[in-house]
Amino acid sequence: MTEWIWLNGETLTMADARLGIEDRGFQFADGVYEVIRIYNGKPFTLIPHLQRLWNSAVDIQLTPPLTTDALAEQINRFIAHTGMREGFVYLQLTRGVAPRNHLFPETIEPTLLFYVRPLQPPPLPGEGAGVALLAVPDDRWRRCWIKSIALLPNVLAKNAAVAAGADEAAFIDGGGFVTECSTSNLFAVIEDKLVTHPVGTKVLPGITRAVLLEIAEQLGIELDERAIREDEAPRADELFITSTTREISWVARWNDIYIGQGRCGPTTMKLHRALQERVRRETLSEIPTLATLAV
Ligand code: PDD
Repeated sequence: MTEWIWLNGETLTMADARLGIEDRGFQFADGVYEVIRIYNGKPFTLIPHLQRLWNSAVDIQLTPPLTTDALAEQINRFIAHTGMREGFVYLQLTRGVAPRNHLFPETIEPTLLFYVRPLQPPPLPGEGAGVALLAVPDDRWRRCWIKSIALLPNVLAKNAAVAAGADEAAFIDGGGFVTECSTSNLFAVIEDKLVTHPVGTKVLPGITRAVLLEIAEQLGIELDERAIREDEAPRADELFITSTTREISWVARWNDIYIGQGRCGPTTMKLHRALQERVRRETLSEIPTLATLAV
């Protein structure tokens, strides 16, 4: 099957796409990105993702070349073109190509690209072995609200987790508090309350996190938005992670300690069911095709 990419306004095959060696994304990680889930041929929560992209870009003094609405239309057209039904869009915006210099050039055209990849849905809550978390020091920068492509600390943390027999790394800040995970937000259920770190300098404003907070409110689950101490995490009644690709994934283990006897807890199940319902409601309506999209 042909792999397609949208690159600076053109739809090309991956094989035909070319990027400059001096793209600042490649040399300086000078860029931002988004990962958007496609369910049933439709991008889920596309506009919140593009709003976050816009915020990330503005906060690194980069103006996206398209408005959010124009970009949404291009993405919808592209997904229809590829025929992808269950997968994700990877979108990257960099400052563009210029002779290597730390200083931003005065005039430079940003590089904007996106493509799709298929995705195996994560196991349903209660199925599979559950996520095993490894606690690692949070040595990232303090602008975690920006979805930066500079992911080396996250990459190293994730690899350390897998090397230790876990699946995901949970970051612990200098004060001994849990912030988030290498590719996901972390939630705990403690005394019937949903506890998660506030977003900002230490935590990405996850789109799945935001959807989940809305769902929790609708279900009447009380939210306690605060940092959890490292020693509190393994004593939580339930732990789960959220992300575009992992949805809500239950945590079975924190380092060597089993959470809730290593079983998926009832609040995690309830929230996941409600999330699935929301996905169904928002993506089971008519699937856009090239013919139904404005040209
Ligand atoms: N990562 N925190 C971090 C550090 C992340 O990288 C991600 C997502 C999240 C969850 O955000 P969202 O719910 O908007 O996906 C939290 C994506 C999936 C990735 O890098 O592949």
